[in-house]
Amino acid sequence: MIEGTRILIVDDNPEVINILADFLSLNDCEIYKATCGKEALDMLDKKDVEIVILDVQLPDMNGISLIDTIKVSKPTTAIIMATGYYDPNFVIDAMKKGASDFLLKPFELDKLMLVMMRVLRERNLLIEKENILHNLEDKKKIEHLNRELQKKIKELTTMYHISNKFNSINIFDDVYEKMVHIVGEILDVNSCGYYMPDREAGELILYAGHTKNGENPKSDWQRISLTEDFDREARAARKHIVRDNRVYLPLVIQGESIGFIMAEAKQNGARGARSLENDVFFLKLIADKASTQIENRMLYESLFENILHTLRSLIVAITKRDLYTEGHCKRVTNMSLALGDRLCINEYERDVIRVVGPVHDLGKIGIPDSILLKPDRLSDDEYSVMQSHSIYGEEIMSRFEILAKEAKIIRHHHERYDGKGYPDRLSGEEIPMCSRLIAVCDAYDAMVTDRPYRKALGIEEIVAEITRCSGSQFDPAISRAFADVVRDGYES
Ligand SMILES: [Fe+2]
Repeated sequence: MIEGTRILIVDDNPEVINILADFLSLNDCEIYKATCGKEALDMLDKKDVEIVILDVQLPDMNGISLIDTIKVSKPTTAIIMATGYYDPNFVIDAMKKGASDFLLKPFELDKLMLVMMRVLRERNLLIEKENILHNLEDKKKIEHLNRELQKKIKELTTMYHISNKFNSINIFDDVYEKMVHIVGEILDVNSCGYYMPDREAGELILYAGHTKNGENPKSDWQRISLTEDFDREARAARKHIVRDNRVYLPLVIQGESIGFIMAEAKQNGARGARSLENDVFFLKLIADKASTQIENRMLYESLFENILHTLRSLIVAITKRDLYTEGHCKRVTNMSLALGDRLCINEYERDVIRVVGPVHDLGKIGIPDSILLKPDRLSDDEYSVMQSHSIYGEEIMSRFEILAKEAKIIRHHHERYDGKGYPDRLSGEEIPMCSRLIAVCDAYDAMVTDRPYRKALGIEEIVAEITRCSGSQFDPAISRAFADVVRDGYES
């Protein structure tokens, strides 16, 4: 029923208000009163009114225009118009604006009751509908936010994968090749590749290609025409360009575009390329990471070259004093590399030997001439000073932080497999592999060379000596490989 309903009666005639108020109060309604439009609006602001019984003629405004104002601020408030005469045009107009029903004056109270009940029911339905719509709207918003969140999580996960993959690239990997594989793994593309420009020929040449099904890149995409737009749009603006179903993104190193990463969509034509547009973000991230790797490598290589140059200068300083050392270092390096090949050492160890071999006796710079150049056998004390060259060598090398591992190899190049060497008496595999390898080649070269105090030994004698010392001075596996290399005709 209508008990407890909050009703605002708006009429310029207080008598009408009182009659209605008395009747509705008897039905336990909560009544508010207003004699003009302004009062009605004030009351609506203050009270949570459910139904307004609104006179058509008010002293300060037209009741019809008040409907608009009420419906804008309180759309669920039900409005019953009260009028002295029935005018169909007026009724249609008021209904269009949102009035719920009409009462003709003088009021028939039983009819008023029915209208009140109907309007109240209609209002409840309206509120329910509003709630449902509101909930739907919330649900849609949540779904939208969820979709956005999923997208962001996927984006962050992909970014994390890209970073991880670039972090796992090592110094010997081909960054361009790796970059293309990463594009193929991360993006859902038909194929991808890296192109380098041949400006004289006016072509882009495929440097590395990758296809989803593992086939070799087709011959028609080995070379593509370097049209003007590659230079004009991509190079200048450093943004991607689209050709058929492919996207090309310039790879920029130190501010210069040096090539193009290509990704080919699965679908054909411009539609395919459009599907790739979302992936351009990841393509740019991959290009950025690759650029940083290449720039770091360039920096590292130039730093490395500078350091090696400095170290080689020190070796030149030693050779000015001791001619034996220069040739010795070269021969030890070459022999170590040949022995390393036989032992299938990895590329990193080969590189270490290339660095350490020529400078392994670097510490001799700290040995006085009277000992370094002494033609006779050294006394125990002199020998002890001579031994310190491995520690001096390590000290010099370790000044360069990036050569820390190489410094250790120099320190231990006179250790013995049985632990009786110097300076730390390491044994077996405690001694770095490259140090064990250099130790064998060092001994070999000392024996193959005429020294002031003895003549060079023959190859068979040297092999016999190394074999005799296998397991005591030398690593047995390296000693065996040494014998094989020498017997296969190795020439220093
Ligand atoms: Fe040495």
